[in-house]
Parts: sequence; C-alpha cells; structure tokens
Amino acid sequence: MQSPRLVRRLPDVKGCRLPTIRCSHRDVKDCIIPHVTSRGLRGTSKVRWRSVIDITGTPSSQLRTSNCPDYWRSSVSHTECSLHQLAPYIGKLKSIIARDLVTSYSRVGQLVVDPFSGSGTIPLEATLLGRNVFASDSSAYAATLTRAKLNPASSLETAFKTVDEIAYVSEPHGAVDLRTVPAWVRAFFHPQTLKSVLRFWYAAMASDQYFIMACLLGILHHQRPGFLSYPASHLVPYLRSNKFPEHLYPELYSYRPFRPRLLAKIERALARCSPRPIVASDFVHAPLRMVDFPSGFDALITSPPYMNALDYERDNRLRLWFLKPDTNCSDREPGCRSISDFVNLVRTLADLVEARLANRGHCVLVVGESVSRGSASLRHPARIALDIMRERASSLTLLHEIRDSIPDIRRARRENAAVKSESVLVFKKK
Ligand SMILES: C[S@@+](CC[C@H](N)C(=O)[O-])C[C@H]1O[C@@H](n2cnc3c(N)ncnc32)[C@H](O)[C@@H]1O
Repeated sequence: MQSPRLVRRLPDVKGCRLPTIRCSHRDVKDCIIPHVTSRGLRGTSKVRWRSVIDITGTPSSQLRTSNCPDYWRSSVSHTECSLHQLAPYIGKLKSIIARDLVTSYSRVGQLVVDPFSGSGTIPLEATLLGRNVFASDSSAYAATLTRAKLNPASSLETAFKTVDEIAYVSEPHGAVDLRTVPAWVRAFFHPQTLKSVLRFWYAAMASDQYFIMACLLGILHHQRPGFLSYPASHLVPYLRSNKFPEHLYPELYSYRPFRPRLLAKIERALARCSPRPIVASDFVHAPLRMVDFPSGFDALITSPPYMNALDYERDNRLRLWFLKPDTNCSDREPGCRSISDFVNLVRTLADLVEARLANRGHCVLVVGESVSRGSASLRHPARIALDIMRERASSLTLLHEIRDSIPDIRRARRENAAVKSESVLVFKKK
C-alpha cells in the first residue's frame, strides 16, 4: 500500500510536473493517484501511463520515448468486455492497450477511425468509451468480427430468438451436399456435424447475422468439447490427429451437435457486457485504398498489418472458407508480404491523416516490429512508418513512442520472420 505521505504529495507532483518521476516500468507500477472530489480525498488508484508521461516535464514538442507500463502485459481476460473473446484473431491488440490509447488520444463524442480493425478491438473499446467509430478492413473474417462487436445482440433472449429464427429459415433447405465442400474442409469435421453447421450457417449469412456468425466462427475449431471440429488448434487451423489419434480418443471424433455449443458460446460472449453509450458506428469491408473516410475525424488509432510476418489469409483459412466458399478464400488483399506492401499501406495512411484528420487530432500507429532472422539488414517497420509520416504527413508531429514486447501467446511467424515487439507511434496534427 502507498504511504499517506506520498498520496498527499501527489497532487503537487502532478501539478508541478516534477521531472524526478520518470516513465519507467517501476515508476508506473508504484505511482498512485488520488481521487479528489468536492468532499476531499476518496481513495486512490494506479496511475495510467499517460499521466506519467505528462508529468515528466518534457516540452510537448520534444519526442519522448518510453517503455509501456507493466499492466499492458498482464492478463485482462477476466475483466475485459467478454465480446473481445468472440473469436481468436492473429495480431489482435490487447484490449487494455486499445482502451488506454482511445482514452488518451480522443474524447467522448469524438470520431475515432480504425482502417485495419481486424477483430474489432479498437472499435469495440472506442464505442464502450463513448466515441463514435468508423472502421474498415479488407478481410471478410475481420469484417464479421468487427460488425459483430459493433452490433452485438442486445440480450441473451434476443440472441437465442435469432438462433431459433435462423434454424427455422434453414429447415426447408434440407441437407447440404458435402460433395460441394473441399476435402481439406471436410477433414476437420464429423460429416453430420458439418452438414448441420453449414445448413444453419448459410441461413445466418443470408440474413447478415454477424453476431451469431462470429459466435459460430469462434467455436469452429479446437480440441475442447465446446467446439465443433475434430481435435485441432484454435488460432490457426491445424488438425491435431497425431496428438489425439482417433483410436485413443474416439469421443473427439464423434458427432457434435452444434446448437448447445452455439448457445453456450453466445452466453460466454455476452457474459460481461456493460450497456454501452449511444454512439454512431460504421464499418466498411474494403481495402484501405478504396475506403472513403469521413473528413475531419478526431483520431486515427490503428495497428497496420505486420510487415512480412503474418499471412492473414492462410492463418484464417477455415473461417474464411465459411465466409467466402465460392471464392476459394482469395482474401488476397491483406497480404503485407513485402516491405513494399507495407510501405504502400503506410503511405496511403499518411495521405489519409494529412488530408482528413482534424486539426489537433491524433494519429496513433501500433506497429509490429518484425525482425527477420535471415536478414540482419531489415529495417524496423516503426522506423519505416516514421520516415513515411515525416515525408507525407508534414502537418503532424511525433509526440512520443511507446515500446512494448509481445507476449508469446500473441506471436506468430511466417517463414523466417518473427514478430518480437511493437512500437506505438503517437502523432498530433498542428
Ligand atoms: C494487425 S491486424 C489488426 C488487428 C486489430 N487491431 C485487432 O485488434 O484485431 C492488421 C489488419 O490489417 C488488415 N489489412 C491488411 N492489409 C489491408 C489492406 N490493404 N486494407 C485494409 N486492411 C488490411 C488485415 O486484414 C488485418 O486485419
């Protein structure tokens, strides 16, 4: 516990911007801020990193580099809004980071833009914090998750009723012909499970029931009993028949009725959802260069695709097949497979904020640092992004940079690249 002496001193510390308080892990952990109300001191809470940065005494025109606070690394899975756990997503931002960035760089009622919304972490946190949101992403999987998080079912009863309605509509369509399903997809499921899931799925898709679809995608593959596939990994779809062979684990290869699993998933998804403020939100499913962003938005907060490190199409292939069976998963656009792809995306971003970000608005880029083991000469993506922003978005200045290392669970590799850390670049428009 903090000593009363320190608690009394802190209002002065904040007011005087004492330079002795530095932005390091230990300081962030140790700092306590008082809650002062008209009736006096009403308790304390741990200081957020932004407050710490603000009291370093560094003039705002000067770049400040800091490490991220420790609590960015701690688990929030039991405290965050349960909608964040709808379905896994590679490269997903931690909700606590999204929350801090939205809180720090936008205000209630302002418009926050996220052009690489992925699983919708930033849009969800922004709406929970009373911001209006405009989001986009080129991936069909990202589109489903973001839409689901922006417009979840209002209650369990509503969600269960929607499930009944979808099931009712799907009835007359009869059994699905599994010969129309590619063998690699069939390999993941008991045939009867797949038939019943697909019949329901097609009806849900036809009526744009994104929340129900996202819940179903969230239980599509894993080895746990609440999931629909044969034993498989959860994040990226790989069958785990070597670890769980059928002759030793026959129960993992039996028919799995999807309805009780879907209802249980919906319950989990809505378990911790406080009512959200009334805000406006919009999502566009399109690649960055084709999106018509609103003019004068107040903040752009986003995490661009990791340079040369992740293959969103391959890693989401089973869920993408459900979403786009006819196109054979050709979600090609998200490929950020080379430095030039990354450079082009950041150039488009820079042009966007230069043209459409409101004066004094913020642009926050969470940039994954992928370091190739094969090539020591690879430039860090945050440096590349910084250079591009300086060149093309000259009305913005870099306020500070926060560094974070990514916990193992969030790491993903492609070929010889490994994502090791990320930098948060914070710019402000003059
Ligand atoms: C790092 S992920 C974003 C993760 C997100 N912040 C979250 O918490 O889930 C980057 C996203 O960029 C999207 N993306 C890649 N290339 C794109 C492009 N050209 N236009 C729009 N989105 C793109 C990918 O589909 C992916 O969802």
